[in-house]
Amino acid sequence: MPSWMPGAVGYEVYVRSFADSDGDGFGDVPGVTQRLPYLAELGVDIVWLTPFYESPGADHGYDVSDPRAVDERFGTLDDVRTLCDTAHALGLRVLVDIVPNHVSDQHAWFRGALAGDAALRDRFVVVDGALEDGPPNNWLSHFGGPAWTHRPELGGWYMHLFLPEQPDLNWENQAVRDEYLDVVRFWLEVGVDGLRIDVTHSLLEDPQLRDNPWIAEVAHDAAPGVRFGAMAHVHDLDLDATAALFAPWRELAEANDAVLIGETYLLDPVRVARYVEDGLLHAAFWFPTLHTGWDHAAIAEALRLGVEVGRGRFGWPISSHDDPHAAERFGGGELGRRRALAFMTVVLGLPGVPFLMQGDELGLDNGVVDALEDPVALASGGAESRDGSRTPMPWAPGPNLGFTTGTPWLPLGSNRTDADTVQVQADDPTSALHTTRRLLAARRARPDLTGEAELVWLSSTEPLLAYRRGDTVVACTIGAAATLQLGSGSFAHASAPGATLEDGTLTLPADVAVIVDLRSQ
Ligand code: NOJ
Repeated sequence: MPSWMPGAVGYEVYVRSFADSDGDGFGDVPGVTQRLPYLAELGVDIVWLTPFYESPGADHGYDVSDPRAVDERFGTLDDVRTLCDTAHALGLRVLVDIVPNHVSDQHAWFRGALAGDAALRDRFVVVDGALEDGPPNNWLSHFGGPAWTHRPELGGWYMHLFLPEQPDLNWENQAVRDEYLDVVRFWLEVGVDGLRIDVTHSLLEDPQLRDNPWIAEVAHDAAPGVRFGAMAHVHDLDLDATAALFAPWRELAEANDAVLIGETYLLDPVRVARYVEDGLLHAAFWFPTLHTGWDHAAIAEALRLGVEVGRGRFGWPISSHDDPHAAERFGGGELGRRRALAFMTVVLGLPGVPFLMQGDELGLDNGVVDALEDPVALASGGAESRDGSRTPMPWAPGPNLGFTTGTPWLPLGSNRTDADTVQVQADDPTSALHTTRRLLAARRARPDLTGEAELVWLSSTEPLLAYRRGDTVVACTIGAAATLQLGSGSFAHASAPGATLEDGTLTLPADVAVIVDLRSQ
């Protein structure tokens, strides 16, 4: 484990929506570089960049046609080098997103396979068969429809857990394993400090291609996510042998003082933990915290499981580009913002690696947009959509709130106002931005929260959620005011005003979290 990793806080930059430096409407790598001082001042440590590689953009960059090339919309390889140098000078670390499960159908390998190259065809999951015979099994695409598409040029069906434009790679094939080890090496040599691994748990499939069992009845025309969730993914996801595929990556990472963080979108914490056991990945994301509303029982359970099973090795996303922002999940608007700041306080005190997403520090809910850009939105006629969590970052009052001088690829959202921007919030000490900065500073100053101090739950009884690590207590109310007997101490942070600590009794208004330092009298 690199010495810079313990205690670090991550920040997800959704590159195409962060900052546009050249007016083409897409955020880009130089735009991120220009804003790195903002992130350093905010107080995060790790900046994760979503894919900026050459890509037709069918899944907004997660359909990669050349994993070593930077898409010209986003900049050049030299721009990435400059970003890394600038980040390092500011004390920040950089993660890039590697996408090993699938490539774009425009990748040279898939085009070669379609042109009849048998060795290239074997790098994909292809099954001989006629169109009339139907797909080889009942597996589904995350994005709707079967996980199989027929191509006469291939003489059969190829598998894709996402869009047909994203053919799955065959990880039984040594050439695929060698290639991705080399891609990892390539980016480490460019100067990045680690990798976020896309759908870490998806690389292997059942060699016998057995049907998955259905676990719920579901209509044929149900939204893609609903249909996908009605099946037990025992044969297409998280096979036992998958985790070990990352052992050679780990060796390379260790030799370069770099880290590997897995996108492990699984609901069973024991399965997630397998990816960080035996020295495989340095951290694995625990996603159930992204699925809860402002619901005491659901939040308490998601946190408890992640703490108990993760033992400091789980990543805690506050929001992500695939799920509604925290402020949105918790009710939106001012109330959502208040609750999201409280939630962030609780998550930032847990053992492990918390990850903010861009805009969390501003308390942003989802952008309200009519556009349907996300392939999931297109497939479901808007019933499911990730567009609202991907709207561009509001920087300052003015056209497009300072994101671009051109036309943004996705509107910022009809609900965005000047009050949402970095510039306006920077001038207001009570803003979400200042509250988040204070939270990050309070955390950084407390080894109890950044180190290995054991976590002891003090209350999981509604509406209170409270834990102690060393001499530091983190307490939060979810839905109503509450009190807790604590003894003497002082506030190191409060997510909103109104909390008191008198005669040993902590009193919290509804939807507020505090950090209490028990050492101070
Ligand atoms: C997970 C990514 O976060 C998501 O945005 C993408 O659509 C899928 N993996 C496929 O790569």
